Amino acid sequence: MRISVIGCGYLGAVHAACMAKLGHDVVGVDVDANKISELSAGRAPFFEPGLEELLQEVQSTGRLSFVTDMSATEGSQVHFVCVGTPQKKGENAADLRYVDSAITALTPYLSPGDLVVGKSTVPVGTAARLAELVKSQQPSADLVWNPEFLREGHAVSDTLQPDRLVYGVHDGSEQHDAVKILDAVYAQPLEAGTPRLVTDLPTAELVKTAANSFLATKISFINAMAELCDAAGADVSLLADAIGMDDRIGRKFLNAGIGFGGGCLPKDIRAFMARAGELGADQALTFLREVDAINMRRRTRVVELTREVCGGSLLGQRITVLGAAFKPESDDVRDSPALSIAAQLQLQGAVVTVTDPEALGNAARRFPELHYEASTDEALRRADALLLLTEWREYRDLDPYETAAKVSGLKILDGRNVLDPTKWRAAGWTYRGLGRP
Ligand code: UGA
Repeated sequence: MRISVIGCGYLGAVHAACMAKLGHDVVGVDVDANKISELSAGRAPFFEPGLEELLQEVQSTGRLSFVTDMSATEGSQVHFVCVGTPQKKGENAADLRYVDSAITALTPYLSPGDLVVGKSTVPVGTAARLAELVKSQQPSADLVWNPEFLREGHAVSDTLQPDRLVYGVHDGSEQHDAVKILDAVYAQPLEAGTPRLVTDLPTAELVKTAANSFLATKISFINAMAELCDAAGADVSLLADAIGMDDRIGRKFLNAGIGFGGGCLPKDIRAFMARAGELGADQALTFLREVDAINMRRRTRVVELTREVCGGSLLGQRITVLGAAFKPESDDVRDSPALSIAAQLQLQGAVVTVTDPEALGNAARRFPELHYEASTDEALRRADALLLLTEWREYRDLDPYETAAKVSGLKILDGRNVLDPTKWRAAGWTYRGLGRP
């Protein structure tokens, strides 16, 4: 099939490459000329494992191209809308200007029978409004919603082998024409057994925000338990292992630590609360305010704990922060708890050095006032205390004896509870985890 993908960020670039991998002819469109020239040269404009190899593989088949000109969408039968929906400045609601302008720019190029497929995370009700807009310009085109559940760091495999496909269509019916078209787009994952659900438009939009809210709630739940464990002298990691063995609960997303960040969970729960308010259902989601508050408290907690570990004052303490990305296998620093903690420590008088295997460029653009060091060895040198804040493999694998020889003070705060406290203590370190005795 001929497919266009509008918006070539984390979601769109991966989606375009994966659609070409599935055998379709794909054109990716973005207003950012730099991004387009990188992608056209087979380079990923951000760090995502496997993406660059995939771009090069599919580009050599001639099935994938990237352009800035929207007119290139003409002739595609399916148009995926993959632009961002960030948080509005100064408000909780989602900023829909990129979605709106993508649809407005696309409609002149739609032909009868074309299908516009929204993938961006949007407030419930958006799809119905946009469907009207599409119909007003091209009465025999249609708009459906097909939310995306990919995780950064696993984006390629999540797109090629999704755990489910959700098609939101106007009447919620399996017989809707769009279902057949999307089944053809996703023929390979469907043949491999991926379950697919057909819903109406608002349900499809809500599936996405509900899923992210549930994940955020799970993380904040275990972080609330970590607060309690700290108060009671219990161990939240063992608690999570034990409750996670109940398969109604499950162990995944129960890792206590410095909390969630990134370009999705924080802004999605806020936009969800804002939308519920508009719909007069705000009470249903007031618990998300608590989820957000627990999450933000983690950052303050780590600053306080660092002060404690440093003997009561941060002034002049040389602190090395291991990890800047919001999670490992990503160079994304949007709302990164690690960077937010690093900045707080510096504001309170510590001398902070931040290191990360992939995210330093993005980190320096966001927090230019922090000091960055690309080499882990250099970053460790003469540190009074270490903070492990993003659990990259190389930090999890640090050897406590070898590390001890490089630093000034044997103090480590494990913000992700990934190190073995016994091993580190045996090597002479003062080890502190979060919610661990
Ligand atoms: C999230 C969802 O997991 C995806 O399903 C969704 O498609 C995506 O948002 C989106 O809306 O586009 P992502 O933002 O890539 O994916 O990151 P997650 O893997 O969900 O991690 C989010 C944050 O939670 C990270 O900061 C991570 O360190 C933290 N986390 C995760 C914990 O603190 N504890 C855990 O147990 C798990």
